[in-house]
Amino acid sequence: MMKNILEAKFVKEMCDTTANMYRLGWDERNGGNISYMLDEKEVAEYFDINCILRTIPLGFNANELAGKYFIVTGTGKYFKNVEKNPEENLGLFRISKDGKNAELLWGYSDGGKFTSELPAHLMSHIARLKVDPENRVVIHSHPTYTLAMNFVHELDEKKFTHTLWEMCTECIVVFPDGVGVLPWMLCGTDEIGEATAKKMEEFRLVIWAMHGIYGAGKTLDETFGLIETVEKAAQIYMLTCNRPRINTIKDEDMVKLAEYFGVKYRKDFLNI
Ligand code: 13P
Ligand code: ZN
Repeated sequence: MMKNILEAKFVKEMCDTTANMYRLGWDERNGGNISYMLDEKEVAEYFDINCILRTIPLGFNANELAGKYFIVTGTGKYFKNVEKNPEENLGLFRISKDGKNAELLWGYSDGGKFTSELPAHLMSHIARLKVDPENRVVIHSHPTYTLAMNFVHELDEKKFTHTLWEMCTECIVVFPDGVGVLPWMLCGTDEIGEATAKKMEEFRLVIWAMHGIYGAGKTLDETFGLIETVEKAAQIYMLTCNRPRINTIKDEDMVKLAEYFGVKYRKDFLNI
């Protein structure tokens, strides 16, 4: 007897995460997308993995992920609707043996397909898995204050990260590896996917200037938490940047934090 996929932990987690992101105002309309790599064993509890509903060309080669399973938000779909109708707004597929197709096993029930940002997602999975074999999740979002900050702050990785670290005591502990920054680029393309993946070799967070952010992590919670922490820091920055700054968290304080919590941080991003 197959279990009901609507009760699967990973479907519930996708619903909760998209609902939270929508509630926070980060993902207007169809903004944002999520990809979550699953184990064959957990997928096989819900349906026959040999029953392919549709084969959808990827449009690029993902042979490094051949045979891997992903649950991914659909293109043009609204985060606000995922919880109400997961089967239409999400899809679960396997990357074909030759790495050229998505073999749809569940979802995209109105004939839809995966997010237009799939190149950036899959290329980022490939890059992160090399650094951290436990990486499972890539999230793209349009968080309000992070975006606002893109318009008024220099888009330099060191300076951007440093400012974020200064804004909340816990920032350097949560993202000690800092934030990578890409200039404005056309989205949905292989080029932005390749550029994002290159940054992901070094960072778990990558800003797409004047567009949004990418995060990668082991779980949906961890990845959501990374973006949430950047967004909180960006909010504090935007609330304070046009007033005289009287107090700040100093670089020496950040060193104390990083050492106390035992995190490996980008020393070259501090001015010490
Ligand atoms: P999709 O609707 O294709 O997921 O695109 C949304 C988006 O955020 C593009 O960057
Ligand atoms: Zn986007």
